[in-house]
Amino acid sequence: MNLEKQILQLAKDGRWYQDIPFVGVQVPMSYPEQKNSQFFGLNKWNNFIEPLLPFKDFGTRRFLEIGCNAGLYLLKAIELGFKTVVGIEADEAFYEQALFTCDYFGLKDVQLLRQVIGETEPNVNANGAEHFSIKETLVTDIVLLANVLYWLTDDASHQLIKDLSYKILYAIVVTVEDATGLSSGSSDFVKKLFSDDWVLVKVCRISEKFDPMPRQQIALLFKSVHLKEFDLHELWKIAANPNKEEPHREQFFRCFTEFVHLVFKDEDPFESDYFRYLIDKGGIGEWKTDNQIKRYVVETAAICKSIRNDGLKEPIQFFGHACNPINGYHRLVILRELGYRKILCQVGVEEIR
Ligand SMILES: C[S@@+](CC[C@H](N)C(=O)[O-])C[C@H]1O[C@@H](n2cnc3c(N)ncnc32)[C@H](O)[C@@H]1O
Repeated sequence: MNLEKQILQLAKDGRWYQDIPFVGVQVPMSYPEQKNSQFFGLNKWNNFIEPLLPFKDFGTRRFLEIGCNAGLYLLKAIELGFKTVVGIEADEAFYEQALFTCDYFGLKDVQLLRQVIGETEPNVNANGAEHFSIKETLVTDIVLLANVLYWLTDDASHQLIKDLSYKILYAIVVTVEDATGLSSGSSDFVKKLFSDDWVLVKVCRISEKFDPMPRQQIALLFKSVHLKEFDLHELWKIAANPNKEEPHREQFFRCFTEFVHLVFKDEDPFESDYFRYLIDKGGIGEWKTDNQIKRYVVETAAICKSIRNDGLKEPIQFFGHACNPINGYHRLVILRELGYRKILCQVGVEEIR
């Protein structure tokens, strides 16, 4: 089937909302004026989203878009060089469009999930979509919520914004002051929604004058108050420092670094100094017998690989105690070996002794 026919077949009610730049074919747009407006599609990315991106180093970073539609901004995030790009879309037709976009542009590394946040308004066909789970969400550098929050109910938005603040460092919200969705789109409403767990960092708006489809659109960048980015090198200096309370620490860092090397080269983890170190030490935590230690080693090797492939499931927690800043020494070593320079930690956690 030729490209034009495929695009028509994938249209929702005969239209696409995002103007995906397929070569030689114009997608049928929801509103023809959208194409030249500064508030939609690629112009929305250039005018509202990219100017708010708070970092320039993308190589180890993770980007999530909720309500990704046909995947235009997933494509832009990949072009910028984000390591991992994830899109969530509830509507079946839009999700199919996004799959097609990813396939057409060869975006093999994009993960597309058909998931829904709370209840949807009737235009969104969320039948068969799984519910979005914050527990399954990996630690992420930035989430994009472009013209989607006001389609959620107030309760769903509140819960979502709170939950995301423990996993995601930055959020960009694009909204329309007079939106007519399930929630309010006003910037005051959005600011209030974020006020408990995030701080507002930057705002972006442009003039509506002379636009073929003007709208009071505004973009806001928020930063989570629960997460902080640490320089991995600085954290390493504190964590790997020999310490009277934990005489094994230096040896642990040396052996575990060698272990991670070995695992990443697919070599036998039982040939590692780390395995011998654990046996000599009589195990770790609840893993005490030789068999338990073996199981622990196998599971730890699997964790190394899952972090290499996907990233962290939970942020490393930071207690603020001078000699014991983190509960994630293993993950610190793994991320260092993977070439991370910055590391996301949850701050202000109370230490349980
Ligand atoms: C107005 S479009 C914006 C699309 C894209 N973010 C953009 O700015 O071009 C809103 C998108 O959010 C999706 N959406 C709406 N409610 C949702 C929900 N409860 N869960 C997940 N996605 C939802 C819609 O299907 C639609 O693709």
